Amino acid sequence: MTGNPAAASANAEQIEAWNGVVGAKWVANQDRLDRVLAPFGRAILEAAAPKPGEHALDIGCGCGATTLELARQVGREGRVMGIDISGPMVARARDRAGMLGLSPVFEVADASSYPFEPGSFDLLMSRFGVMFFDNPPSAFANLRRGMKPGARLAFICWRALGENDWVKVPLAAALAHVQPPAPTPPGTPGPFAFADRSHVLSILERAGFSSIAIEPFDAPMAIGTPEGGIEEALTQSIEIGPIARLIADAPEDVRARARDAVREALLKHRTESGIALGGAAWIVTARA
Ligand SMILES: C[S@@+](CC[C@H](N)C(=O)[O-])C[C@H]1O[C@@H](n2cnc3c(N)ncnc32)[C@H](O)[C@@H]1O
Repeated sequence: MTGNPAAASANAEQIEAWNGVVGAKWVANQDRLDRVLAPFGRAILEAAAPKPGEHALDIGCGCGATTLELARQVGREGRVMGIDISGPMVARARDRAGMLGLSPVFEVADASSYPFEPGSFDLLMSRFGVMFFDNPPSAFANLRRGMKPGARLAFICWRALGENDWVKVPLAAALAHVQPPAPTPPGTPGPFAFADRSHVLSILERAGFSSIAIEPFDAPMAIGTPEGGIEEALTQSIEIGPIARLIADAPEDVRARARDAVREALLKHRTESGIALGGAAWIVTARA
C-alpha cells in the first residue's frame, strides 16, 4: 500500500465505502458480479486491444477479473498493474492471480494521486472503475502522466440511470415504499457520474487527452441465472447498488415491503435464460 489511503482527504468517502460494506458485498458476490458484467468486460477489452509485451494498468481493478485477462493477453513479456483503493477487493484479486499462476502487480492506492512512473504505460483500461474521483480532471491528468506519449486509454462507464433498466426497474418498485435519495448535482462521484457524454469529453480534454471517442454500448445484465432464479436477482438488486443504500436504514417492515415490490417487478423480466434487464454504457477511448 502506498501511504494510508484512508488518511487522504481526496476521495475519502469512496475509500471508506469500498473498504467497508460496499467492498465486502463486492467480494462476497464476486463470481456473480463477474458473470453479470462479463459482456461489458469483453467489450472494453476488445476496445483496449492489449498486445503481447505491453505494459498495462487496470484502474479501479476491484477483485481483478479484467486485470487477470489483461495479464493473460500481454503475456509473459508484458507487465500489468491493477490499482484500487479497496484492500478487501485487491486481496481477492491477489488470491485469484495466485491460483491462476498469473503475476500482475496489485496496489491498494488512490489512482488519482498515485505516483506512477512517468511515461511508462502503453495502455490504461478500466471496467467501471473511473467514476468515483472527487476531481476527475486532476485524476485523469495524473493517470496520463503515467502513459507513454500516444498510449491508449480505454474505459467503460454507465450511461444515465434512466437508460439502465437493471437499476431503473427495481428502483422504481422500491420507491413506492422508501423515500427517494436526496438529489445530488450531476457528476457527483458514483456509478452514474459519467452519464453525460459532454462531461466525460470535457474531463478528458482538460486532462490533456486527444483522439477522444465516446460510443454507446448496450448489453443485457443477466442478474438472475435460470438456477438462481428470482432470489438471486433479488439479492443482486437489493444488496448491491443504489437500492441497498436507499433501504439500509429503513425499518424491517418497510424493507420487507420494498423487497416484495422489487421481486414483483423483476418477475416481469423472467426469460428462459434467467432474469435479465438492459444495461447501457459508454465505451470511451483516447490517446495520451
Ligand atoms: C464498480 S467497481 C468495479 C470494479 C472492477 N473494475 C470490476 O469491473 O469488477 C469500482 C471500483 O473502483 C474502485 N475505486 C474507486 N475510486 C478509486 C480510486 N480513486 N482509485 C482506485 N480505485 C478506485 C473501487 O474500490 C472499486 O473496486
